[in-house]
Amino acid sequence: MYIMKVRILFLICFLSITCLLNAADKPVIQIHTDNSSLIFRVADNGRLYQSYLGKKLNHEADISHLPQGTEAYITHGMEDYFEPAIHILHNDGNPSLLLKYVSHETKAVSQGVNETIITLGDDKYPVTVKLHYVTYPAEDIIKTYTEISHKEKKPVVLHQYASSMLHLNRAKYYLTEFSGDWAHEANISDQPLEFGKKVLDTKLGARANMFTPPFFQLSLDQLATENCGEVLVGTLGWTGNFRFTFEVDNKNELRIISGINPYASEYYLPAGVVFRTPDFYFTYSANGKGKASRNFHDWARRYQLKDGDETRMTLLNNWEATYFDFNEEKLIGLIGDAAGLGVDMFLLDDGWFANKYPRSSDHQGLGDWDETADKLPNGIGRLVEEATKKGIKFGLWIEPEMVNPKSELYEKHKDWVIHLPNRDEYYFRNQLVLDLSNPKVQDFVFGVVDDLMTKYPGIAFFKWDCNSPITNIYSSYLKEKQSHLYIDYVRGLYNVLERIKTKYPDLPMMLCSGGSGRIDYETLRYFTEFWPSDNTDPIERLFIQWGYSQLFPAKTLCAHVTTWNHDASIKFRTDVAMMGKLGFDIKLSDLNDNEKKFCRDAVTNYNHLKPVVLEGDMYRLVSPYSGNHTSTQYVGKDKKGAVVFAFDIYSRYGEKLLPVRLQGLDAGRQYRVKEINLMPGTNSSLQGNGELFSGEYLMTVGLNIFTGQRLNSRVIEVVAE
Ligand code: DGJ
Repeated sequence: MYIMKVRILFLICFLSITCLLNAADKPVIQIHTDNSSLIFRVADNGRLYQSYLGKKLNHEADISHLPQGTEAYITHGMEDYFEPAIHILHNDGNPSLLLKYVSHETKAVSQGVNETIITLGDDKYPVTVKLHYVTYPAEDIIKTYTEISHKEKKPVVLHQYASSMLHLNRAKYYLTEFSGDWAHEANISDQPLEFGKKVLDTKLGARANMFTPPFFQLSLDQLATENCGEVLVGTLGWTGNFRFTFEVDNKNELRIISGINPYASEYYLPAGVVFRTPDFYFTYSANGKGKASRNFHDWARRYQLKDGDETRMTLLNNWEATYFDFNEEKLIGLIGDAAGLGVDMFLLDDGWFANKYPRSSDHQGLGDWDETADKLPNGIGRLVEEATKKGIKFGLWIEPEMVNPKSELYEKHKDWVIHLPNRDEYYFRNQLVLDLSNPKVQDFVFGVVDDLMTKYPGIAFFKWDCNSPITNIYSSYLKEKQSHLYIDYVRGLYNVLERIKTKYPDLPMMLCSGGSGRIDYETLRYFTEFWPSDNTDPIERLFIQWGYSQLFPAKTLCAHVTTWNHDASIKFRTDVAMMGKLGFDIKLSDLNDNEKKFCRDAVTNYNHLKPVVLEGDMYRLVSPYSGNHTSTQYVGKDKKGAVVFAFDIYSRYGEKLLPVRLQGLDAGRQYRVKEINLMPGTNSSLQGNGELFSGEYLMTVGLNIFTGQRLNSRVIEVVAE
């Protein structure tokens, strides 16, 4: 009997140890944010599977019920028949990879931010792949990237190298994408995904997002709306060619592969060097697209954006007021206008540089960064001095990655230019791209900023433009490694931006690329804001800003009042611009006194609204895509104040106008509603103007904010008492 008991005890111990060993061998790896979960499991074959992605699973015991799922990071050359995440060519010509789980660890990166690293390896070839998942719990954002390295004798060739692969298994999938063109950016279009592939990519190199920005929304089961439905929103932090592949397979399962576009970009990776992919960021929302946007806005302001927690400067820009036609006297006049308007800064745009080939048009001078003596006999210094005297800051436009063939730089350093041997040059906006894969060119581009800052430390801001894609692609520096150029160009750019940020940490910069031809969350680590479009027609801007607001907070969206669309009043144009980072690009002398006063008052109002618009929560109330009216609301984080912007674009005869329900307020509080930003001498016709309402009423019944007038706009402040 005793022996029997010992045997049973021994057996129990043995089984438990085996189970423990198995559990350790085949771990379940859980990655959670406050509202979402991503769960991996190692299967009996030692490979890593994604078991779950979606709403947070709160009960630990349930995790064991999850199905095995789909292999997490699928490799080329094995038994999968659809698009892989990685494709490597080994030294012996074997093009396959079989990745097995090796280990994983989770560690704290900073307060509240954790990182899980899963290491995978191939039994037969010395290749290691590390999958990184960084979680920002409160914002429900997961950042993922991949590191690839090996110990083979010669370089391996990377043909595909995704930042991320995610799997979903739902009844239906709807992709929302934002493609467009110059002056027609960020258009929203939805499409169902069915068997096969949908690819969103770009091959433009620099100005990479001219036709499509690097982000998407993916609705699950049904098309998500602002406040309802499940949606996964993803974006790649890469300032160059990207690719998102959405593939629905024979079982109606969807894989999303995100990363650098491997087009013409085979990478020769030497042993011991880690190939780190760019970051892919995503959020999952069970409460529609509005919540997903607020997740990104909060995360960007807190963790990603340059000076994310700081305010932004209002400005007067001279581009549309003068184009290339200015001189010192004219600019001094404009600096005076800027000060009179009450903005924080005057921004001098293109046209101030080059002497042998003065920059009198976009045909020449790019690359020669000395002031044109005829135009500015006393240099930039005189202008900085004038701005300082008037109590405002001075900002300057540059486009340091580019060169006009008609320039001294091109004459001296043709080898610094990306262009093909034995071919005629093809120009985009009469210019070519400098070869940032070459460290000497990186020094030059850094030097453009550094020299200006050394000479004129009073420069308080740069607008960094980039008007050409990479054309004529060939680098005389890279020689036989031409397929590295698209990638090394971007890495070279990051080198330069990092040097600038390190030396001038307090220097804000606007990211511009002939509009928003270049916009992603990696460059926004170096830039405080971006120029969404050269199209400043306020009606178009309502759509463009609506598009970019899906991912980017108001403080990043430069919005200038210009003369585009003469049918729209100065009030309508200004009200649209006040939903972003307000600026003016207009000849103030063309405005009448009433309009000038309105603009000055608007700057004062905007300064007062800044904490709510720039730092608050954004609620898109009525979409411009839904008809003739649109409205967006911003609510302060403490819910003490909010502002509603309402626009009647094209009212129809006999149209039924319903009240619009506000969002995000405190239901139990009383709020006073007041229309502000009125033209001097006019009164508000807003029903309930000046009256008190409970948050509950405003969010349940709503306010009649729209009118039957064409091109009418309203700014309505809602203040808790
Ligand atoms: C393109 C930009 O988008 C414009 O705002 C302006 O800066 C021009 N370039 C100047 O050439």
